[in-house]
Amino acid sequence: RSLVNKGKKHLFKKLLNSNQSTCRCVFFRKYSGSEKRFLSFDEIVAQRRGEAKRSIVVQVNSEASFKELYGYCSKYATIKDVHHYKNSNDEHFMLIEFGSEESLQDVLRSCSTHQKDVDIMALNSPFLWFRASNGRTESYATPATVLASINGIEQVDEDKLFKDLVECDTVSDQIQLLYDRTRLNDLGARLRYMVARQIECMLESLYANVAVRPFGSSINGFGKMGCDLDLVLTNTLTDEMMKAGSRLVYQDKRTEGSRAPWARHMQCVADLLELRVAGAARVQRILNARVPIVKFAHHYTDLECDLCYNNMSGVYMSELLWLFGSLDDRVRPLTFAVRRWARAVGLTNPHPGRWITNFPLTLMVLFFLQQKTNDGHVLPTLKNLVRRAGKEDIRIAEENLNCTFLRDMNKLPSECYAQNKANLQTLLLQFFEFYSQFDFKEKAISINEGASIRKPNSLPLYIVNPLEQALNVSRNVSFEECERLKAEVRNAAWQLEAGMDKQKGDDWGLLALVEKKTTRGLKKLLRVGNSHRLVSVKDLFNDTDDKIPEASVKNKIE
Ligand code: CTP
Ligand code: MG
Repeated sequence: RSLVNKGKKHLFKKLLNSNQSTCRCVFFRKYSGSEKRFLSFDEIVAQRRGEAKRSIVVQVNSEASFKELYGYCSKYATIKDVHHYKNSNDEHFMLIEFGSEESLQDVLRSCSTHQKDVDIMALNSPFLWFRASNGRTESYATPATVLASINGIEQVDEDKLFKDLVECDTVSDQIQLLYDRTRLNDLGARLRYMVARQIECMLESLYANVAVRPFGSSINGFGKMGCDLDLVLTNTLTDEMMKAGSRLVYQDKRTEGSRAPWARHMQCVADLLELRVAGAARVQRILNARVPIVKFAHHYTDLECDLCYNNMSGVYMSELLWLFGSLDDRVRPLTFAVRRWARAVGLTNPHPGRWITNFPLTLMVLFFLQQKTNDGHVLPTLKNLVRRAGKEDIRIAEENLNCTFLRDMNKLPSECYAQNKANLQTLLLQFFEFYSQFDFKEKAISINEGASIRKPNSLPLYIVNPLEQALNVSRNVSFEECERLKAEVRNAAWQLEAGMDKQKGDDWGLLALVEKKTTRGLKKLLRVGNSHRLVSVKDLFNDTDDKIPEASVKNKIE
């Protein structure tokens, strides 16, 4: 607006075209004046849950069904938005958001069940399909809106992405582009809340005050398209439910048997997923773990889901990560670059094991951004957020875990964050250099302190759980994997520094870090001089008995 007012409309247009999403952010921050700069996590979650309560997902023939479906549904209610997507089976779906929850109920009352079949027991759910019109031709008015998205959750076109990364002007632009192209989009978030809502609807008549909420990367601001869906089921008692004045009290149902009551309930929920949740398949019960979960796949949305019970600390952890990410526009793109690099060099792996995962890796990025440089730091310490918390921020999770920290970032003085103005390119290089120097042997990473602390035990990698400081979130990481992490950060620092120049060809800048290592890439790496920084293949795997594990080398080269 300022540019336009100054008669520099062309500059404004250039800015918009160059990087729309960053641009919007800048404008919001700059021109909101005395208005709130930061939305709260609770506001975002309430908005998403509200959307899901007003929405349905309808299977259709193709995106061409839009006009007919729109016309049919708008006979019952006002439509706000329609999004189209395809799942991996090439089945087409439309997510429709109505004007209000009541409108949605009107639509649901008009729905029917497919056919009378003794094997099928009818169910209600927000996942529906659109039956062909039985030969009758009905005329529908032209939709008052266009499709908000077509193929809205389509896989990222990696070839196009890499081509565009080559074309970027700077490494910072590459990092921003990677983030803009691969982060979870609006429809991805909506569908995650729809799956949560579907399960919540199914359980509402069985449990009082039941809620099913997404957590983890689906909502913490660090999720990419296609990330898994972590869900938590709660049925907390509210003050209203426990009011002493009320003389009529519900009879309780005590759970009998020797197993913990919640374990029996999760068993029951797993059965219900199999029996009563359309689209849920491959249900697995993992009930003996520290945080017991039920895993399942959701066919209509292509999501791999993990449902746990009463793990509110996971939600508060997601809130904490979300708040850190919202404080500065560089935090999320930088984390995406690091996560993508870790995946490309095989430090992370979609399967659980003795390696680091995305969550501790994210904590490593946050910890790095808390470090004080000559220009100051980017992020505050968690201790600082805890110190500034008010009564409204008090949250106690399961097992009396205190998850209290400042929630309203508008109350955080501006000198507490974003002091260091380094660009993304510099920050990424500094990230690798910082961990190249880090004393993993003696020190633990703590975002509570924002400074390294002495390791309380000899586990190879120690990253303090921010909300349960006696725990190490990377306790699963083996010695070999930690050595690989150390070697890879050194290699990445060297590669990035050596490859900043765009003229150097197709794998300049970020590309050298995020492309899967090929034989060619590795050979090239070994050929180049600069040996003080370059780590040999043997060092890379640094086996104590001096043997290079063949399988690892093979994976690496592949
Ligand atoms: N979590 C935690 N403590 C751990 C591991 C996980 O509190 N030791 C919480 C975090 O909030 C984390 C969430 O559980 O974000 C989900 O864990 P996970 O699925 O492993 O990580 P995501 O952040 O969801 O990342 P990804 O995209 O790899 O699933
Ligand atoms: Mg996850």
